[in-house]
Amino acid sequence: MTMFCGWTLPTCIMNASGARCTSWEELKTIEESESSVIVSKSCTLLPREGNKGKRYWDNDIMSINSTGLANNGYSYYNLFNFNKPYIISVAGLTLEDNLTILGAMENRVVELNLSCPNIAGKGQVCYDMQMMDEYLRQIYERFDIQMGVKMSPYFDNFQFENAAEILNKYPLKFVTCINSLGNGYMIDNNQKAIEANDGFGGVGGRCILPFALSNVYKMRKLLSSGIDIVGCGGITTGEDVYKHLISGATVVQVGTQFVKEGPAVFSRLNQELSIFLG
Ligand code: DHB
Repeated sequence: MTMFCGWTLPTCIMNASGARCTSWEELKTIEESESSVIVSKSCTLLPREGNKGKRYWDNDIMSINSTGLANNGYSYYNLFNFNKPYIISVAGLTLEDNLTILGAMENRVVELNLSCPNIAGKGQVCYDMQMMDEYLRQIYERFDIQMGVKMSPYFDNFQFENAAEILNKYPLKFVTCINSLGNGYMIDNNQKAIEANDGFGGVGGRCILPFALSNVYKMRKLLSSGIDIVGCGGITTGEDVYKHLISGATVVQVGTQFVKEGPAVFSRLNQELSIFLG
């Protein structure tokens, strides 16, 4: 049993936003799986088709994606209620869009995505400390909302400390570490692995585990005890889940391995983890 966001969960394992969670059918499949929570695809004010051309690729060690926030618009994700906890991932393209979306979600639990790397012409909010502070200030000034934030990985001690100092000012329920490593580029058969976004995309999968663990561990040390850490990145086995937990995660999310393996990944990971938890 795991306590998270006021829920008592049967397991600490859930899906990561982005992986097989855009349509109602996909969300129903997660509801029927052993994922303890349903997390939606990041949504915007209006529906989006996303980037054109092949936009996801993987091999044994990594995935790369440049989906371009393909989603059905926030009103769609706000229609649903499930027989298990539901987190709506929100990725408005501007602060104003986020304020509009969050205004409609005061009874929801939200994961605010501050780390989308694939939108042309837009930087990541979590890499602009002033902007991140301004987003959170304006959101909490207006809304009393159950919310966490999804972060990109940091690679530098100053970044960790500056980010944690800002995050600690707000009544966040959780901080999710980490989103994909932004703007990777991969060649497959002498060609760009993905066509979308000129081949640039967020890197996930097994190879990002050390960065996920470092960010979980650092943020657990730096953030207030009232903020849970959601571990995300590099999980393919129950042992990887256990590594996230002992680094400081309360719950974990699985993205690339869910895309590769389908909903059976959750029962396998739960079973494998139970050996480590004794
Ligand atoms: C997309 C990718 C991300 O890593 C993210 O956080 C949000 C959106 C995308 O390309 O759709």
